[in-house]
Amino acid sequence: MLMPNFIKTSRLSLTPFERTDIDRFIELVNDEGVARSLASLPLPFTAPDAQAWIADREQQQASNNKYLFAIKTKTSGFIGVIGMDRQNKELFDLGYWLGRKFWGQGYASEAASAILHWAETNVGIKAITASYFQDNPASGRVLEKSGFLHTGVKTMRYSPAHDKRINNIGMIWLGNTPVSHGREIL
Ligand SMILES: CC(C)(COP(=O)(O)OP(=O)(O)OC[C@H]1O[C@@H](n2cnc3c(N)ncnc32)[C@H](O)[C@@H]1OP(=O)(O)O)[C@@H](O)C(=O)NCCC(=O)NCCS
Repeated sequence: MLMPNFIKTSRLSLTPFERTDIDRFIELVNDEGVARSLASLPLPFTAPDAQAWIADREQQQASNNKYLFAIKTKTSGFIGVIGMDRQNKELFDLGYWLGRKFWGQGYASEAASAILHWAETNVGIKAITASYFQDNPASGRVLEKSGFLHTGVKTMRYSPAHDKRINNIGMIWLGNTPVSHGREIL
């Protein structure tokens, strides 16, 4: 069962992902400009791919290993996705994308800041990692604006859209409350 989580910001609603969002999801994600920056979605992303993707995420969400939200605006409805996957007991990893026509309006930064605040205050999450392909500086900027720091770690990660491993830059967010020395996170 989906967790009944809702986050409101001044312009966005982050809501549980609904099956009625699938058509719009497929329409927006099947765009080279979106998919080339994602590590986990192949192109083309078909309706069966989407059904399997959502079923898998619902299962993980039910066991609190994932928190997934549809990003919606009042006028356009579904515009993208943001979510976090558990890496270990206290550490999550953040990912997001928006349909191309919704870029450049601060929506990703607004959604990222909101989910971080929600994660810290509602779920008690203390640390979140994120990473972006080197040719995607806009995502790095979203993370910086949301309070992430560069870890200095670069890895080679497979990009389905490029069909090769490319440089991936690591970042981390340690919450707004100070982390005590010696506490093990990673
Ligand atoms: C990355 C993405 C989520 C950004 O969404 P967005 O709503 O346009 O982001 P925002 O408007 O909140 O912020 C983008 C920031 O990047 C900056 N930016 C955009 N293009 C840039 C570039 N080529 N180089 C450097 N900075 C850039 C913008 O100026 C803005 O920063 P500013 O507010 O300081 O001016 C969106 O482009 C997307 O969905 N891309 C495809 C999927 C993806 O990359 N997902 C993340 C995978 S790690």
